Amino acid sequence: MSATTSAKAPPQVDLPSDQELVLKVIPMPADCNANGDIFGGWVMAQVDLAGSVVPARYAGGRMATVAVNEFVFKQPVRVGDILSFFAKLTRIGRTSITVKVEVYAERFRSQGKYIKVTEASVTYVAIDDAGQPRELPKPADPSH
Ligand SMILES: CC(C)(COP(=O)(O)OP(=O)(O)OC[C@H]1O[C@@H](n2cnc3c(N)ncnc32)[C@H](O)[C@@H]1OP(=O)(O)O)[C@@H](O)C(=O)NCCC(=O)NCCS
Repeated sequence: MSATTSAKAPPQVDLPSDQELVLKVIPMPADCNANGDIFGGWVMAQVDLAGSVVPARYAGGRMATVAVNEFVFKQPVRVGDILSFFAKLTRIGRTSITVKVEVYAERFRSQGKYIKVTEASVTYVAIDDAGQPRELPKPADPSH
């Protein structure tokens, strides 16, 4: 038996078909931490941006991130990965909207093979000019 252990390869997955692709980005060396992997704070910033795309359609104006309810770094992100961010609405409240964001990586030189690297749940609040919560606009009536 070998004394060395090899790292288990993360499972390849299909991209979600029930979520919207809201962002694609490739991390650069300037986004690395001391391990040479991508800094978690950089990934969080991209998730915050990507997560805001769908709520922006409902907010009808200014909004702010009020909560990161869940954030899981399932696999490391590396320089040169092609990252795809998918989002889905999970709750629409009176002033707030919550989305689930999933991030998939195509490793450098392994394009077309996807690994889920991150998942998160983020809540955004519609705010008025004074920065106070504001009721979400009523959706347009499709019968008119
Ligand atoms: C966003 C902000 C205006 C909300 O003000 P608030 O007084 O906390 O608002 P409320 O308690 O009335 O809650 C407003 C909505 O947010 C939701 N909410 C508040 N705190 C929450 C939390 N921890 N998790 C999930 N949802 C939350 C409430 O459920 C409510 O949603 P609903 O109306 O759909 O039911 C205020 O918290 C703020 O300015 N935060 C800073 C935002 C910011 O700067 N974000 C960028 C990060 S640097």
